[in-house]
Amino acid sequence: MAKLYIISGITGMTGNELARQLLQRGDTVIGFDNFFASSPHTIRDILQHPNLSFFEYDINCTDQMQKIEQLIAEKKEHFEKVIYINCAAVVHTEHFYHVESTFDTNVLGMRSFMAQAIRQKAYAFINCSTSEVYSMQSWVEGGVRESDYLLMDHAEHSQRTSYAAGKLMTEFFMKDAVDRGLLKGCSIRFANVYSKNELYPKHIIPHIINELKQNGTVVLLENSKVNKRTFLHNIDSCAAVLALADSDAALDGTVYNVATDEEIAIVDLVKLCAKKMGIDNPQIVFEGYRASDPERRLLNTDKIRRRTLWKPQISLDKGIQMCIEEINKN
Ligand SMILES: NC(=O)c1ccc[n+]([C@@H]2O[C@H](COP(=O)([O-])OP(=O)(O)OC[C@H]3O[C@@H](n4cnc5c(N)ncnc54)[C@H](O)[C@@H]3O)[C@@H](O)[C@H]2O)c1
Repeated sequence: MAKLYIISGITGMTGNELARQLLQRGDTVIGFDNFFASSPHTIRDILQHPNLSFFEYDINCTDQMQKIEQLIAEKKEHFEKVIYINCAAVVHTEHFYHVESTFDTNVLGMRSFMAQAIRQKAYAFINCSTSEVYSMQSWVEGGVRESDYLLMDHAEHSQRTSYAAGKLMTEFFMKDAVDRGLLKGCSIRFANVYSKNELYPKHIIPHIINELKQNGTVVLLENSKVNKRTFLHNIDSCAAVLALADSDAALDGTVYNVATDEEIAIVDLVKLCAKKMGIDNPQIVFEGYRASDPERRLLNTDKIRRRTLWKPQISLDKGIQMCIEEINKN
């Protein structure tokens, strides 16, 4: 018997690929998005799929969420399990500072969506958290672990961490629900997910490729003189979500890091993109500074690798190639 998945934020980077992978394996998906940061374009290839029901709904709208709940109540008896995956979020660096909207959608929205899952006796709830919670201690030798203590920047430094603080709160809701036996689930701390379909031109990978394409010069923040990051392709981030959702033992309410350990300096990322685009000497201009931005963010992923068979499949080299091909196509 197939499973029924409910995905919030389905047209976002994670949601659309999750839906694709689930439909491919024969599951049924109900998804919604209010297009805060996406468009129906991202699911154009699956929109007509008979096992996908899509709605332009807002997670903060009680009436619309009641309609979703009603639909699930009607359909669920035909499925072996009902699994909720919460991808809807006010996310991306420029929105991190918006305390009110990150709190409304990321904390209150998550909490009421999980309450719905509990009322519908869902088997599991997957909570998308973030590696931003590691804040100013995002790197230690071997990568930060889920159980490491946090060193967070706060209102004395920058409003940026309000996003991370909200996501951290959702991890407590998740753990509490599992501890109380209300459903199974876990939280996932993703690091720097990217996709060939990314809409946000300010995101570092599309930003670099677009600037190289337009004028061969890339404007980077001063932080990029030293910053290093890892980048996780959304095919891999979604495979991790499904590996966790499929593993009964992993759904213990705890947190999982999901990332690659392929670290690259941002200036080297520019050189990698340029090389793939046939540009010999990319010019880099440094402008502006972002507070509360750790120099490195390296996650230890032993926990998910121990509990599931997941490991990233798409190297940065291959992922960048996919992004460049897509941008050239469009
Ligand atoms: N992209 C990353 O690097 C990254 C890193 C860490 C964690 N995350 C988390 O992973 C999850 C998925 O993120 P993503 O990368 O797919 O981001 P995304 O912005 O591409 O997707 C989020 C989706 O949520 C939708 N949304 C926003 N507000 C909504 C609302 N009120 N109602 C319904 N839909 C709404 C947006 O329109 C968007 O389509 C989020 O919870 C995010 O916080 C992402």
